[in-house]
Amino acid sequence: MSKKALLVIFALFVVGGSIFYFNKKSTNSCAIPKEVQLIKKIPVAEAREKLDKVYEGISGFGISDKEVKFIKKAGGAATYGEIKFESAQKLLDYLKPTKDDVFYDLGSGVGKFVLQAYLTTDVKKSVGIELSGTRYELAVKALKATAENDLFDPNREAKFLNENIITADFSDATIVFTCSTCYSEELMEKIAEKLIKLKPGTKIASLKEFKSGRLKKIETLKLPMTWSEESSVYIYIVEEEAQKAKA
Ligand SMILES: C[S@@+](CC[C@H](N)C(=O)[O-])C[C@H]1O[C@@H](n2cnc3c(N)ncnc32)[C@H](O)[C@@H]1O
Repeated sequence: MSKKALLVIFALFVVGGSIFYFNKKSTNSCAIPKEVQLIKKIPVAEAREKLDKVYEGISGFGISDKEVKFIKKAGGAATYGEIKFESAQKLLDYLKPTKDDVFYDLGSGVGKFVLQAYLTTDVKKSVGIELSGTRYELAVKALKATAENDLFDPNREAKFLNENIITADFSDATIVFTCSTCYSEELMEKIAEKLIKLKPGTKIASLKEFKSGRLKKIETLKLPMTWSEESSVYIYIVEEEAQKAKA
């Protein structure tokens, strides 16, 4: 082999090696540093502590008369109250969400239960639907504050929608909670119409009973809420039979 050919091979080797080295280096520098680990879920006590901090100064109780009128006109109920943290946790323990579940709170207020379900269970998605713009904005503020504290898992989602339950799309729900104590029978019927179309096996927890009879009631729990030491929480399941009967 000539000297020239050897020189060309040597030059190619040096250039190729450098490209490989620098590529590898830049890939490494893009990797997530060890100290920035993404969390999947955290212990209940830690979640409570974090949420208490996040929600300092955030309240869903006071909204303007204008907004109250808007909610009523849209077929909703503006009255506010919350499920307590311990009750929400008992309910989650009962419902046993898995990584395949999508959790919805229909009428999510400032979003405490949505974030609690996200932080303490494996749910792949936790969503709150809320008609009040004020409460929705506060929920988004809390979500952002939570995200700053705990780095969110990119494979899981937590979000809020400023929408009416009547028209919102929650067709991917597999677990639904609704703090429906003050909802009208008309609103309950409209919600039931949508629930009945969800995937068979979907679990629903409602503070008001559904009169439609097309959802199968499987249990009644008694849990404290912010306004009562013992509220009934009716648990329903979406049955395949009910869907066939409707078709
Ligand atoms: C009793 S609060 C429950 C808050 C939250 N789910 C909790 O348990 O902490 C009910 C919420 O439902 C909202 N709401 C009432 N009707 C609605 C509708 N049609 N669409 C969306 N939100 C509605 C109200 O504005 C209120 O914030």
